[in-house]
Amino acid sequence: MALADRLPYFPRPDLLAEVTALLVTGANVTLFAPRRQGKTWFVRYELLPALHEAGWFAARVDLWRNRDNPSLALVEGLEAIAYATPMSALRRPLTLRTVRGTFNVAGVEIVGNWEPAEAPPSAEVSLENRLAKALRIISGKGEHCVIALDEFQALAEKSAENFVAAFRTALQDLEGSLSIVFTGSSRDGLTRLFNRAKAPLFRSAHSVTLPALGDDFVESRANYLLDVAGLEVDHDALKKLFRTLCRVPLFLNEVVLWMLIKRNPSIEEAKDAWMQSKQSEEFGELFAQLSDLDIAIVMWLARSGEKSVYTEDARRIMGIMTDEVPLPAYKVQARIRRLTKHQILEPTGATGQYEIVDQGLQILLGERLDGFIKELEKGASSPAPPSVQLPDV
Ligand SMILES: Nc1ncnc2c1ncn2[C@@H]1O[C@H](COP(=O)(O)OP(=O)(O)OP(=O)(O)O)[C@@H](O)[C@H]1O
Ligand SMILES: [Mg+2]
Repeated sequence: MALADRLPYFPRPDLLAEVTALLVTGANVTLFAPRRQGKTWFVRYELLPALHEAGWFAARVDLWRNRDNPSLALVEGLEAIAYATPMSALRRPLTLRTVRGTFNVAGVEIVGNWEPAEAPPSAEVSLENRLAKALRIISGKGEHCVIALDEFQALAEKSAENFVAAFRTALQDLEGSLSIVFTGSSRDGLTRLFNRAKAPLFRSAHSVTLPALGDDFVESRANYLLDVAGLEVDHDALKKLFRTLCRVPLFLNEVVLWMLIKRNPSIEEAKDAWMQSKQSEEFGELFAQLSDLDIAIVMWLARSGEKSVYTEDARRIMGIMTDEVPLPAYKVQARIRRLTKHQILEPTGATGQYEIVDQGLQILLGERLDGFIKELEKGASSPAPPSVQLPDV
């Protein structure tokens, strides 16, 4: 567990009410949000425990438990859940908190006290049959059962099409007794998957967007710093920083952790340290592999507030940055293809529009572009400063 994950969980009661109200009707739910916004934490620390408390059988499989083979990851994960047995009262951990059990299988969890058991030798050979069987067994584990499938977009590859169709059929047979919460960070992946599997069950899954955390989350972090370390931070400045950090909770937790470790309440210094660590530890290598035009494209998306990369304004600014004015669209197109292939950008679904996948990269490059624009504006000589209005983050 990363250190930032030791900070306390901040509850999302409205979201919990919204999702449980849907599940109670027997619906399936898709929970979408960009990376690191808190989908997994919400499901693990709030949704599944709440459903368990209400008497549901609640479990979760992370499809990235086997990145090379998400279909197998799903089947094996579901089998681990299907054949798990309730832990005998004598062997229960001596703790008052029984909600989080000791079930320990990588990328799989069941809320409550369960232990893994060997799957009986199966006559089923095909993955599809194993999948249907495991789902059937799980649906008998409680009056209401919910399975959260994390990183479900991992099945968006065309090669998994038949498997996804079989999954949909198996779920249809169990409608009413088993609900699924699909989560994913790739809007493109989930949309492709659900559109391709043109089936009522997928189409009827209710889509819930994870709302971004707000000022009360920031207050909770400031109070935590005061409570555990006596550090008094400027609440307004911390709120402003959270907006600069694209309201990504992980990033604020990282900043707060730095303050805690350094016993330093300076938000400016914490922010600089965060930027530097992202630059050197996460993105240094990536930057070295990007061409000037790649960087210009990503910078434009990071800071302009636009998602389109082919507009006149976009190409003018990118042209100034790369010293090629006018910048032809085909050159942009070639780089875009490469950037999406390497999952640095993702299409939004609208023609010619893209988003940066990693918001850490977005924040870092946004800051750099600010510096670049300031330089341009300072320089009296040509090139003329860009006239486009770049909004504040
Ligand atoms: N409600 C919350 N309270 C406190 N911290 C949170 C909360 N939600 C998320 N975080 C912080 O953000 C980090 C990322 O959360 P999480 O792993 O749930 O994101 P995710 O949306 O599932 O990301 P990914 O798409 O990369 O899987 C957590 O490790 C935690 O530090
Ligand atoms: Mg996650």
